[in-house]
Amino acid sequence: MTKKIALVTGATRGIGREIARQLGQSGHQVVVGARDLGRGQATAKELVAEGIDAVAVQLEVTDQESIQAAAEWIGQEFGRLDVLVNNAAVIADGDAAVGVVPVEALRRSFEVNVVAVAAVIQAMLPLLKAAPAARIVNLSSELASLTRVGDPASPMSTILTAGYNASKVAVNMLTVMLATELSADGILVNAADPGNCATEMGGWDAPRTPAQGAAVAVRLATLPADGPTGELHAEDGRLPW
Ligand SMILES: NC(=O)c1ccc[n+]([C@@H]2O[C@H](COP(=O)([O-])OP(=O)(O)OC[C@H]3O[C@@H](n4cnc5c(N)ncnc54)[C@H](OP(=O)(O)O)[C@@H]3O)[C@@H](O)[C@H]2O)c1
Repeated sequence: MTKKIALVTGATRGIGREIARQLGQSGHQVVVGARDLGRGQATAKELVAEGIDAVAVQLEVTDQESIQAAAEWIGQEFGRLDVLVNNAAVIADGDAAVGVVPVEALRRSFEVNVVAVAAVIQAMLPLLKAAPAARIVNLSSELASLTRVGDPASPMSTILTAGYNASKVAVNMLTVMLATELSADGILVNAADPGNCATEMGGWDAPRTPAQGAAVAVRLATLPADGPTGELHAEDGRLPW
């Protein structure tokens, strides 16, 4: 089997579906991670109709059993994983400024956006290490840039979603630490900021298309061996922490 195997979490819609599409277009065997298997299969079918090798796997990223079952299935089917894109995330209901955000929204943000990312990485790690030169991409955001959010002149300082912003800062930390942990394995680990894209999360009037947002994640998922690791990149290059 010569095709690289790529798993994208939350690939049923939005930026995740476009990442799956673009990885498929660049020759990957795509595994569409979907918490609803039926919708995952519908997405895979749509991609297959475009000439892409795509299959779906049930993957609810907050469910340890689902994660384990997905890892076992990928292991049986392909024996390795060349690319893991941790795309699934939420802006929790009620997310707001630090002084007023419901504690439940903070918990939900961290459960889906941080704990689940680490859990998926842990389960997939043996498969990633079985690949010759795996890549891990974690979807982050400019809203996780302390430099930008801390600058009163930046529009990022006006977006009051404390749970989301703080959880994506934590994603950045997982990215940096994991990059160091896996450097001896030749695995590059980076975070991607897609920019504000028109999706359910980004708002349908956002300036960028999901395909434009997907491109940076795809670039980081297909880096050469001497590419960066432990960094946060947007379309125009590296973002400040
Ligand atoms: N859109 C933007 O402007 C923007 C900007 C910066 C960063 N990002 C980041 O880019 C990524 C994709 O965002 P998006 O705008 O495409 O979001 P979206 O349209 O809301 O799609 C989110 C995807 O994640 C899945 N998901 C959510 N919770 C899940 C769970 N517990 N288990 C499995 N899958 C789950 C959803 O599945 P269902 O279909 O089953 O709900 C959906 O496929 C996210 O990490 C986001 O933080 C987005």
